[in-house]
Amino acid sequence: MPGPGMELIGEEEKRELLEVLEAGYLFRYGSPDNPAFKAKVYKLEQEVARLFGVKYAVAVNSGTSALLVALGGLGIGPGDEVIVPGYTFIASMSSVIYARAIPSLAEVDRTLNLDPQDVRARITSRTKAIMAVHMLGNPARLDELKAIADEHKLLLIEDCAQAFGARYKGRAVGSIGQAGAYSFNIYKTITSGDGGMVVTDDEPTYRRFFAFHDQGHSPLRMGVEIGRRPFIGLDFRLTELSAAVLLAQLRKLDSIRAHLHANKRRFKEAIADLPGLEFREITDPQGECATLLTVFLPSEEIARQVAKALGTKVIADSGWHVYSNMEQILEKRTITPEGCPFTCPYYKGGEVKYWKGMLPQTDALLARAINISIGVSDPGLGSGFGVTMRDGLAEVDAKAAAFRRVAQEYLR
Ligand SMILES: Cc1ncc(COP(=O)(O)O)c(C=O)c1O
Repeated sequence: MPGPGMELIGEEEKRELLEVLEAGYLFRYGSPDNPAFKAKVYKLEQEVARLFGVKYAVAVNSGTSALLVALGGLGIGPGDEVIVPGYTFIASMSSVIYARAIPSLAEVDRTLNLDPQDVRARITSRTKAIMAVHMLGNPARLDELKAIADEHKLLLIEDCAQAFGARYKGRAVGSIGQAGAYSFNIYKTITSGDGGMVVTDDEPTYRRFFAFHDQGHSPLRMGVEIGRRPFIGLDFRLTELSAAVLLAQLRKLDSIRAHLHANKRRFKEAIADLPGLEFREITDPQGECATLLTVFLPSEEIARQVAKALGTKVIADSGWHVYSNMEQILEKRTITPEGCPFTCPYYKGGEVKYWKGMLPQTDALLARAINISIGVSDPGLGSGFGVTMRDGLAEVDAKAAAFRRVAQEYLR
C-alpha cells in the first residue's frame, strides 16, 4: 500500500463521493441556486486555507501543476535561476524548466533537505527563488532559508508535496514562503489518486495563481467573462469528485499524524541503541509527518549490505528522487530540440551543466541512508522495508526486531 491516506479509503470517502455523483454535477463552478452543485472544490480550498493559517488556496490537478502555478504565478521565467535540492522528486526541477527558468542544484545536509550554507554559495545575480522541498515529511531548515531569501530579496517557494500536514515551529509548511505547493497523489499523506493545492497569503499572487490554473480567469468566475483576463493561462482545475474524496481524507489528517508519530517513536526507540546507527536530523520532531524513519549506517558498504538483507535499497540507489539517477536532467533532455530554456537568450549564466557527482555531500549521505517505511511504502523512495498505516505496535515491534537482527550482523 503506498501512502497513509490511501490505506484509509472507506465509508467517509464513499459518502462524500456519492453525494456528488447522485447530485450529478461534477464541475468546480456552479450556481449557489443549483441544488446539484455541492461546491466541494471551493470547500476544500477554504478548509485547507483555514487549517494551514493562509489566506488563499487554489486546488489543482497535481503537485506538479501546483509547482508550475506557483512559479509562473510568482513571475519566475526566462533568465531566472531557482535553487532546488539534488534530493527531491523530478517535478521540483521539471516545473522550473517548464516555467522556462533554470534549476540550480544544491546540496542537502543531514536533514536530507536543502543545506542553507550551500544555498548561500549558489546564489548568483540571476537567482530568483529558493525552492525548499520538505522531503519525506520533514520540514526543511525554514528559519535559515527564509533569512537567506529575505537577505538576498529572493522568493521562497515550499514544495510540500511530501509533507501535507507537517508543521514547522507551530506553522503549517507551505505558509512560510511566498507560496506552498502540495500533492495528493497516492503516496502522499492524504490522497484522491491525483490532485494538488497551491497556497499564498498575498491577494495579487492568489489572483495570478487562479488565472494561471484556469485560462486566465478571475477567481470563482460564474459564466463567461470577456476581455478581463490578465494573461494566457492553462487548465489545471480539480474536479468535484477528487475534492469530495479529499474532504473526507482531510478529516482523517489528525488521526493519521497521531498514528504515524506513535509508530515512528516506537520503531526509533527500539533501534536507537544500535552502535554506529544514526538518525536523519528532524527540524521539528513534533511537527513532521513521521511518514518515514531514515537511518544512516556508518559506511556505504555496510548500508548496502543491510539494505540488501532487508530486501530494500539505500536511498542513493532508489531511483526517482536522486539527481544522479535522473538522466533526463543530467542530459538536459528538453521536449523540443532547441533546448529551451537552457539555450534561452534571456539566460546570461553561460552553459548549464549537471553531472553525476556534482553534489558530493548529497551523494555521500544518500549512499549511507536507508528509508524505513512508517506510512509510505514507495520503491522510488527506497522504502521497501517497514510498516504501513494499518499496522499497529505489534507489527512495529516485529519489524524493528528484524531490523535489529540484520543491522547487528553488519555493525559488529
Ligand atoms: C517532492 C515532490 N514534489 C512534487 C511532486 C509532484 O506531485 P504530483 O505527483 O502530484 O504531480 C512530488 C510527487 O511525488 C514530490 O514528491
